[in-house]
Amino acid sequence: MAQAQIGRLLVVGIGLIGGSFALALKAARACREVIGVALEESVCDEARALGIVDRASTSLELVLPQLEPGDLVFVAVPTLAIESVFAQLKEHLPAGVTVTDGASVKGSVVVAAEKVWGSAPDFLVPGHPIAGSEKSGVTAARDDLYRDHRIILTPLANTGAAHLQLVERAWQAVGAEPLTMSVEEHDEVLAATSHLPHVIAFSLVDTLAHDAENENIFRYAAGGFRDFTRIASSDPVMWRDIMLANRDAILKAIDLYSLNLSSLRDAIASGDSAALMGVFTRAKAARDHFTKMLAKQAYSEPMQEQEITFIVQPGEAVNGKLRVPGDKSMSHRSIMLGSLAEGVTEVEGFLEGEDALATLQAFRDMGVVIEGPDNGRVVIHGVGLNGLQAPPGPLYLGNSGTSMRLLAGLLAGQDFDVTLTGDESLSKRPMNRVANPLREMGANIETGPEGRPPLLIKGGSALKGIDYPLPMASAQVKSAVLLAGLYSEGQTSTVEPAPTRDHTERMLQGFGYKVERDGAQAKLVGGGSLKSCRIDVPADISSAAFFMVAAAISPGSDVVLEHVGINPTRDGVINILRAMGGNVELLNMREVGGEPVADIHVRYAPLKGIRIPEDQVPLAIDEFPALFVAAACAEGETVLTGAEELRVKESDRIQAMANGLIALGVKAEPTPDGIVIQGCKEGVVFSGGTVDSLGDHRIAMAFAVSSLRAKDTIRILHCANVATSFPNFAELATGAGLKLQLA
Ligand code: S3P
Repeated sequence: MAQAQIGRLLVVGIGLIGGSFALALKAARACREVIGVALEESVCDEARALGIVDRASTSLELVLPQLEPGDLVFVAVPTLAIESVFAQLKEHLPAGVTVTDGASVKGSVVVAAEKVWGSAPDFLVPGHPIAGSEKSGVTAARDDLYRDHRIILTPLANTGAAHLQLVERAWQAVGAEPLTMSVEEHDEVLAATSHLPHVIAFSLVDTLAHDAENENIFRYAAGGFRDFTRIASSDPVMWRDIMLANRDAILKAIDLYSLNLSSLRDAIASGDSAALMGVFTRAKAARDHFTKMLAKQAYSEPMQEQEITFIVQPGEAVNGKLRVPGDKSMSHRSIMLGSLAEGVTEVEGFLEGEDALATLQAFRDMGVVIEGPDNGRVVIHGVGLNGLQAPPGPLYLGNSGTSMRLLAGLLAGQDFDVTLTGDESLSKRPMNRVANPLREMGANIETGPEGRPPLLIKGGSALKGIDYPLPMASAQVKSAVLLAGLYSEGQTSTVEPAPTRDHTERMLQGFGYKVERDGAQAKLVGGGSLKSCRIDVPADISSAAFFMVAAAISPGSDVVLEHVGINPTRDGVINILRAMGGNVELLNMREVGGEPVADIHVRYAPLKGIRIPEDQVPLAIDEFPALFVAAACAEGETVLTGAEELRVKESDRIQAMANGLIALGVKAEPTPDGIVIQGCKEGVVFSGGTVDSLGDHRIAMAFAVSSLRAKDTIRILHCANVATSFPNFAELATGAGLKLQLA
């Protein structure tokens, strides 16, 4: 038997709310006895008969003196009846007993307490279980009503800590999640999220019911009416009381809603299709986001909250024609430039991964209407270079360094303040590499300690162009400076120490913005404008790389990766694999929307270790986790140098890969700027065992591929972030021949 969490429970008012709490505490064996008090004898009888209470009475006065310290009183009566219950508690409640309640409005509970006691007593812990249903009464009580539900407690300045803890323990015992907030905040939040929807539902049904045609309306009422008005069959007395008790906050919510409803009316009246699309797409995105949040899979939820382990059995070969998802770098940029363009931009092949979705959501939060994504299709209603609006709160960018760094540049020249935040991994990544040049341009940017996120970008700074020699080969830094350059006076130029991906330059040109390029230099003049266009995002070579390596290391493999972007600033993986002896052919080479594209055909061929040319490093920067697996399967030694940037990616990729390779029996030695790997040409290379991806998508996928040359099962921990760049990896990988399962 579980240990009792509280003494006795006295539940005052045995309806859905009180009865369910009583049932749940009893089911959890978390209290010694449940006593019920109800106004009517019949309710007491029913509660006893249903096993909701051990005993019941119609007299509160009579049972109160039987309570002892450590017992709990749960007041679950209609909001407006609370005061009379409190008056009886004042007379008869023994010292040391805790009191909480379940009323939906907390301000009126505090007012009632003050009326009765002068000031709210220390044993009172006002609370509100955010659960319920349109059903009411003792027969509706369920022991699972509160499981996985949030319970808001609104302790007051003088609420006793022990009383608060007792109430928290009781809610935890029934599987609920208690959290605390202030009385005012609670009442405002509930006015908007619960009370207003009830007002609207009651009013809509009432309006239709009075209509002369109401019979027809109810006869033909479709799903929309049914779904939308379910809550209009809730208890009228309770809702009347709530309206009266939370009047001010509800009036505020109704006024705001009326204003929005009337502008929607205007948009319909005037045929303003853009305004309608704006409201509907924003609402759809918010609702879809909410649905995902409920299913705990939202991109704006910290991914660490999900735990996914890859379990991979030794496989033999990979085969088939595969189309991996759209290029991540281009997907980010398509949303950014499409939003800043004039006119409507249509994107095909958009990567529906968490990272690119974080960028998409950020622009929606800044007022841009974006339809989709729907099978890779996104339609962006551009607002022009100066059309972004202040977002309602911080922009949460999840795991995405590209979103944060590029947005920093683009937002430095806006006239509003904005804060950029991210998940645990992003919060450790260096941001001064963008903040410093942007400050040189006149931006006002604050970072967290040691130049880490969050970034607070103050609006209203006048930017001026600079000539910036990049201290490291980074496309993100180059892009941040160039994007800030759009908002700067005069000319902005960057010079890179080695070629890095040039999608920003190419896409700006695609949007009709002049960018001059001369060797390592890219130059633009601020104050121009972007014209909407069509963008066809090719498949991401960084995602294709996992299957290229998979085919290259496993005898009998033959894969074709279709429609892959082979931009010369991204083709290091092709060059390096070929230098190692890999059989990589480019078929059907063509240009699509300003980017070179090909089908990549890879067949198994024995590999040999090489010294990787340093000029290839920036061109393959994201592909090294996969290439290290290839190196482990190559004859002799592979040496990588000049790749210290790998240490500041989603994880320290040199260390993370070295740890994993060593754990699987490979000889690997990390160096400050690279790694030395001793490979093995034939047969089994990896022993099997457990590796930690450290929440880094590319580490996770690289080790999944290593299973093709493994002796035993490989377990890869913390793989949820694979969804940032390659949401259907597991599906494609198993289709191609990997023996991958998720746990
Ligand atoms: C990216 C640039 C690279 C790369 C990242 C995407 C981009 O980062 O690693 O995945 O889209 O600009 P750095 O610029 O930090 O090298």
